[in-house]
Amino acid sequence: MMPLLERLQGVVDILDDSNMELESPRSGESGYIPSPPQMLAEAVVGLLAHADISKVSLDLGCGNGGWMLLAAAAGFASHGVEINPFLVSHLQRNYERAIAAGLIDPATPCSWTIGDMIPVRLSAQYGEFRRLHKAQERTMPIAAVREDSYARLPVDPSTADIVYCWAWPTQSRFVFNMLQDCAKGDALFVLPSYEEYAASTDKAEENALHLARLCGMGKVYVGRRA
Ligand SMILES: C[S@@+](CC[C@H](N)C(=O)[O-])C[C@H]1O[C@@H](n2cnc3c(N)ncnc32)[C@H](O)[C@@H]1O
Repeated sequence: MMPLLERLQGVVDILDDSNMELESPRSGESGYIPSPPQMLAEAVVGLLAHADISKVSLDLGCGNGGWMLLAAAAGFASHGVEINPFLVSHLQRNYERAIAAGLIDPATPCSWTIGDMIPVRLSAQYGEFRRLHKAQERTMPIAAVREDSYARLPVDPSTADIVYCWAWPTQSRFVFNMLQDCAKGDALFVLPSYEEYAASTDKAEENALHLARLCGMGKVYVGRRA
């Protein structure tokens, strides 16, 4: 395989194309707001200082595959859940391009599913979030949230070694609280824009391990669950 930085750059190029296409009027104003791929690539490099590639990454709301595909290119087993099927069609194509270009080793486990990132067993606990879901029903394929997405993946938020999430702003605090509740003890979180939420908990000190400044979008936050 080609060197890591070349592989990451190749995936960044694929994601830049895909993001540009999603922004174009032809995509019918998808409203998709991806993290800058270059920033994610830097976060992957930073993550390698804290986690070896035997670790399993889970991307909550993986969109067109930004974090997932870069983590897979670095060699992490990489899985994702995304509620929007249109974005998943982009993810599928981006993955195929990355495989064809030799940027991701086909032997690296990489899978995703269309559905809700909130495990069914936690949904009663998060009634407010469900209410928001209903309010957003018109823009979400709500049928996708009827069954547990994790029944179709080899990992869930309580078993993942690495959890990436950049959810919609209305869900940020909810997601952070959920991860504090259910992630496994030594899980690593990669949470762009979550610094203020991390700092608002009493775990802020232990979690305060910052890797990279983001381009106008806050910071990539990597924290280990206390
Ligand atoms: C701000 S975008 C970030 C996309 C990508 N993860 C990134 O960082 O570039 C949020 C993504 O989360 C997805 N999403 C929002 N709520 C979700 C839910 N409850 N379950 C699964 N995906 C969700 C959206 O469709 C969108 O793709």
